[in-house]
Amino acid sequence: MAIVVFGAGFLGQRCARDIPGARLSSVDVTDTSAVAEELRTHRARAAVNCAGATGKPNVDWCERHPFETQRANVGGALSVAEACAEARVYLVHMGSGCIFYGPAPAAGGWREDDFANPTSLYSRSKYAADLMLANLPDVAIARLRMPIAGEPHPRNLITKLVGYKYVVDVENSVTVIDDLVMVIRALIAKRPTGIFHVTNPGSMRHRDLLRMYRDMVDPSHECTLIDERELVDRGLATHARSNCILSSSRLTALGIHMRPIDTALRDALSQYARHRKNGLARGTPPKASGEVAASEAHDIPIRTSCGGARSGPTA
Ligand SMILES: NC(=O)c1ccc[n+]([C@@H]2O[C@H](COP(=O)([O-])OP(=O)(O)OC[C@H]3O[C@@H](n4cnc5c(N)ncnc54)[C@H](OP(=O)(O)O)[C@@H]3O)[C@@H](O)[C@H]2O)c1
Repeated sequence: MAIVVFGAGFLGQRCARDIPGARLSSVDVTDTSAVAEELRTHRARAAVNCAGATGKPNVDWCERHPFETQRANVGGALSVAEACAEARVYLVHMGSGCIFYGPAPAAGGWREDDFANPTSLYSRSKYAADLMLANLPDVAIARLRMPIAGEPHPRNLITKLVGYKYVVDVENSVTVIDDLVMVIRALIAKRPTGIFHVTNPGSMRHRDLLRMYRDMVDPSHECTLIDERELVDRGLATHARSNCILSSSRLTALGIHMRPIDTALRDALSQYARHRKNGLARGTPPKASGEVAASEAHDIPIRTSCGGARSGPTA
């Protein structure tokens, strides 16, 4: 009996690689009968939904494609949940912590049962799916933030930040993918329901990651830190990004513990250094993406190569 992973993107491929017994499926998740067929074919005991519209090259795309975004992120999530319910298959759905903007209402960070305040179309679509799926039997929602991996990838926060000339220095909860995979495996074993914040304990400023990157990966790396207001004042962003701290109290209550962010980040960076060294030895170092300012990682990188003018989405 298999674990079917829907969505053959960054996280789907990682889950399929690292979860024993996983099968990666790229069927259209908005097609309930195709999803049901996949579950039958693989005699699924659990499913992980990593399919979704995240935008190419970034979530700006979603603002300009509201119907495609809702279809994949809300309709697709519902179709997968429906097919899983009919087949009595436990589902872990990938949610996002980027539905919270700003300081949490209480100390300790945004909790799983706090009402969110999403503003971008992408984050609204993610929250809409959460509201629909949160009370279904046999469904867990894993909300992650700004994934960090040990190998270079355009969606890896390390790769993103080191490719930017200007980086907004904000403090956030983040998710190291090795820990995310461990959590998904634990959820499938324990089969709890409802929403779980899957972020490493502690928070991280972008400057911390970049300092560790210089220490552990590339001492010659340079960039300029700017603050959030400067990003808006320079006209580089049209609306605020999600920067927030999450509390992962529901995972802790289940006895599922992610590594503290300092430890997990150090581990990811040492893997990253090995990949980079091997790449350099092969003559293919990871490429930087040029002059870009970042605010929120999965959110919108903004090109500033033309004298600071905002060139907008590049999808
Ligand atoms: N990466 C992050 O920063 C982050 C943070 C929080 C939450 N998440 C959530 O985690 C999930 C996976 O994200 P990711 O980083 O792996 O994004 P990704 O690399 O863009 O992967 C998403 C995959 O879903 C596919 N897809 C889109 N619509 C589909 C549909 N109707 N049926 C089947 N597949 C479909 C995409 O295919 P195409 O490329 O062909 O469109 C892509 O392969 C998403 O739900 C995302 O919202 C991601």
